[in-house]
Amino acid sequence: MNEILHAPGFLGTSANFAADATLIIMLITAALFSIGFYLARKENFEAHKWIQTLGALINLIMVLWLMVLPFRDFVVRDQGGPREAVFYLVTALHAITGLSATIFGLFVVLRGHKLMPKFLSFNNYKPFMRWAYGLYIAATTLGIFVYFVWFVVTGIPPTYG
Ligand code: HEM
Repeated sequence: MNEILHAPGFLGTSANFAADATLIIMLITAALFSIGFYLARKENFEAHKWIQTLGALINLIMVLWLMVLPFRDFVVRDQGGPREAVFYLVTALHAITGLSATIFGLFVVLRGHKLMPKFLSFNNYKPFMRWAYGLYIAATTLGIFVYFVWFVVTGIPPTYG
C-alpha cells in the first residue's frame, strides 16, 4: 500500500500519488458539501443530512489517514528542513482551520442525527451549519495553498523514502 501512496503523482508536480489523490478527493468533498448546502436551501433536509454526513466522514478519514502524519513529520519534526517560512505558516494556518472544521463539522453532524447530549444540543441550525460549511471551505482553500507551497513553490519538497 505504501508503495502506491509514495509512487510519483499524476498532476505533474513533485507531489506523490497520495498527495495528488488527497487534493482531488478533498475537492470532491468540498463539492459534496456545496451540493448539501444547496439541498438545504431547497428544503430537501433528508438528502442534505446524508450528503453532509458522507462529506464529514470522508473528510475525517482523509485527515486522520493522510494529513496528520505528514504534519508530524514535516512540520513538527521538520524532517528534511528547514524550509521557507511560508511553508510552516501556510501549513499551520491550514491545520488550525482544518482541525476546527473537522471537530465543529462532526459536532453538527452528530446533532443532526440527534446523537448529542441535551446540554450540547441546539435548535438554531442555520448559523451552526453555515459556520461548519464556511470552515470546511476555508480549510479546503488553504489546503490548495498547502499543496502549491509543498510541491510547487518550495525548493525542498517533502518526500518519504
Ligand atoms: C476540514 C479539514 C481539512 C481539509 C478540508 C483539508 C484539505 C486539504 C487539502 C485539499 C490538501 C492538499 C492535498 C495534499 O497536499 O495532500 C491538504 C493537505 C494537507 N493537510 Fe489538510 N485538510 C484538513 C485538515 C487538516 C488538519 C487538521 C491537518 C493537521 C493535522 C492537516 C494537515 C495537512 C498537511 C500536512 C497536508 C499536506 C499533506 C501532504 O501533501 O502530504 N489538514 N489538506
